[in-house]
Amino acid sequence: METATLNEIYPGTQSFKEILYTRTSCRGFLETPVSDNIITSVLEDAQLAPSNCNTQPWETHIVSGDKLNELSEALIKENNAGRFSPDFTFDTNEYHADHKERYFNLAETMYGAFGVAREDKEGRKAAADLNYRFFNAPHVAIPFMPSFGDNVRVGGDIGMYGQTFLLSLTAHGLAGIPQTALGFFAGTIREILNVPDEMKMLFGISFGYADPDAPGNSFKMKREPIAKTVVFHK
Ligand SMILES: Cc1cc2nc3c(=O)[nH]c(=O)nc-3n(C[C@H](O)[C@H](O)[C@H](O)COP(=O)(O)O)c2cc1C
Repeated sequence: METATLNEIYPGTQSFKEILYTRTSCRGFLETPVSDNIITSVLEDAQLAPSNCNTQPWETHIVSGDKLNELSEALIKENNAGRFSPDFTFDTNEYHADHKERYFNLAETMYGAFGVAREDKEGRKAAADLNYRFFNAPHVAIPFMPSFGDNVRVGGDIGMYGQTFLLSLTAHGLAGIPQTALGFFAGTIREILNVPDEMKMLFGISFGYADPDAPGNSFKMKREPIAKTVVFHK
């Protein structure tokens, strides 16, 4: 049996480095839907993510079309009413030192790109609320996970899955954004998608074709040099 080359699988494919450096969180999508074939190809790639004991603890729901509109309306309503239903706690006040600084830097860069001033609370809310319109994306992927023990390991597996999914999107000429903001309404999302309570969620990934002119896509977050994040032992 002949083995397909990478270029046959993804015609015009980029190198790993190109894909890695091109991937960025997309906060503005074109309405153009992604074909079922391409979505299937991304899902097959994501399926190659490693997981503890090869448990593959993800059940991914892909939401599009009318169902996506229904979900968006419910999320906007719940968000405006302050009715949060997360499976896991999340408090940015817990960030400290370098992590807090990086978080502030992201907030300033992102709200700056949307033209919102630091003290403009309403403007900030309006920009944050774009999460619940999926930044105009035609699709969202929601990887649900079963609950095991304190859920840390299964959460790690979902992270591996998410990054593989995101890199595959990039390799297919698409873009995506992981969204903890969606996880704040895990209960609402489960209800609308008819998912049992036993299945938990951390984040969703809105995806589609990036709108190059969207203000939310006008910046790229930098990373620390590895000297700040790596310790070598010999
Ligand atoms: C698990 C996870 C959840 C995230 N949740 C959100 C979110 O709710 N809204 C948002 O705008 N960005 C979200 N992000 C995107 C991060 O802000 C982004 O990854 C970070 O700033 C680095 O930028 P980059 O992804 O463009 O390299 C999330 C990222 C991850 C990994």
